[in-house]
Amino acid sequence: MKNILCIGAGYVGGPTMAMIASKCPDYKVTVVDINEERIDAWNSDDLPVYEPGLLEVVKAQRDKNLFFSTEVFKGIEEADIIFVCVNTPTKTFGKGAGRAANLQYCEITARQIREHAKRDIIVVEKSTVPVHTSKVIGQILSSGDPKYKFEVVSNPEFLAEGTAIKDLNNPDRVLIGGRPNGTGKAAVDELAKIYAHWVSEERIIKTDGWSSEMSKLTANAFLAQRVSSINSISALCEATGADVENIANAIGADSRIGAKFLKAGPGFGGSCFKKDILNLVYLCESFGLQEVADYWEQVVKMNDYQQNRIVSKIMKSQFNTIAGKKVLILGFAFKADTGDTRESPAINIVKQLADEQAEIVICDPKAISNAKLELIGVENVSYSEDPYDAAKNAHLAVLMTEWQEYKGLDYQKILTSMEAPASIFDTRNVLDHEDLFNLGFNVYPLGKKPLIQ
Ligand code: UDX
Ligand code: ADP
Repeated sequence: MKNILCIGAGYVGGPTMAMIASKCPDYKVTVVDINEERIDAWNSDDLPVYEPGLLEVVKAQRDKNLFFSTEVFKGIEEADIIFVCVNTPTKTFGKGAGRAANLQYCEITARQIREHAKRDIIVVEKSTVPVHTSKVIGQILSSGDPKYKFEVVSNPEFLAEGTAIKDLNNPDRVLIGGRPNGTGKAAVDELAKIYAHWVSEERIIKTDGWSSEMSKLTANAFLAQRVSSINSISALCEATGADVENIANAIGADSRIGAKFLKAGPGFGGSCFKKDILNLVYLCESFGLQEVADYWEQVVKMNDYQQNRIVSKIMKSQFNTIAGKKVLILGFAFKADTGDTRESPAINIVKQLADEQAEIVICDPKAISNAKLELIGVENVSYSEDPYDAAKNAHLAVLMTEWQEYKGLDYQKILTSMEAPASIFDTRNVLDHEDLFNLGFNVYPLGKKPLIQ
């Protein structure tokens, strides 16, 4: 039985390893993290990340061939293959601050692997990292004349939160990049062997390390660009009276464009899109490609613009005074089916409304504890699990996250408890706008005409 170790028990490491353990009973999979609280949670029924279907997979494998532990060094000593799934946040200091990735956690991990290895190891770089990180990790691993050989391969993760289990179970592709020499190819094949337990061969793409790393940045940049593109059109629709959903349907029917990822909304959030685009921008700038950098940076600027635009619309609907008015925020997670709030558009929007001295009540079925962390120091914000209770005396409601349960709320009941005239902003276009209008709401959808009483 071969030993797989994963360093970093976060949104990527936890679900990915649970899936590998479930599909590969011939491997022992151990997930380690320095964060004891997180590991305890992985060993409980209250997992640290909310992901539909994850608990079932974890429970089926835990303590059979899936283990969660804080013993990083012991894990390294026993490992044949190590997945590096530590966080790579955007740098907040020094050169490249606000753009470049902070690789300190990757670097520390590489040093620990070098010091504690007890055999030759394949090191799999899974964190989202800028191009050349495999090389940096490789250089650290091979420095100081180590006793063992390390081969670094890049295997970017493409799972999306909220659908992680589905994506892992049935990936569009698995990408593995390595050095184009004998040992590099052997390591790529060794990793491909793991995925081949459940992924068909034609979906396993083998490439060189740099292309693999850059494919991850490029995929996320293209996806984010689509969101910014449709959001830019939503602004034009509101100005001209066209309907962004009709446009998305019409252009999505063109098979060259495709129907997916054309939903206008409050802008993209999540831990990857902004970080990866800024990485790409930084990379372009470091190679003197300023025009290319500017091109991609515009995707992030458009995302900020969309959120600022929504706040302006809210303000305008309230005669430009929102001070002292109660605002019900429905959803704080960056998208439905996750408790993750990293880079959620709701953060920016709530902060701006709080600056205007609105009284804000935030509801979310899974993200309240993360929302509290995001909004430390922000005044006039309270939290509630119960949207009906939170709606009492509110002047307006803003739907930020497309949670299924918010589609089915009793809006008549909500309207009755709100102040008149009651407004509702549906930043995701998931509610029945005609219905809400007929109940008596002023309805502000995104990228289409408002329905005002
Ligand atoms: C993304 C990539 O999809 C995934 O492959 C990568 O591994 C990590 O980054 P994730 O951030 O979990 O995954 O979510 P995703 O479903 O891609 O959505 C990102 C953001 O775009 C969300 O805020 C979502 O609400 C927004 N979005 C997405 C839209 O506004 N409109 C759309 O049509 C699609
Ligand atoms: P992602 O979304 O990429 O999975 P997370 O922040 O959710 O990122 O998870 C990364 C995890 O990596 C965190 O739980 C963090 O504690 C862990 N981590 C960071 N550095 C180390 C390290 N040197 N050893 C073990 N775990 C680490």
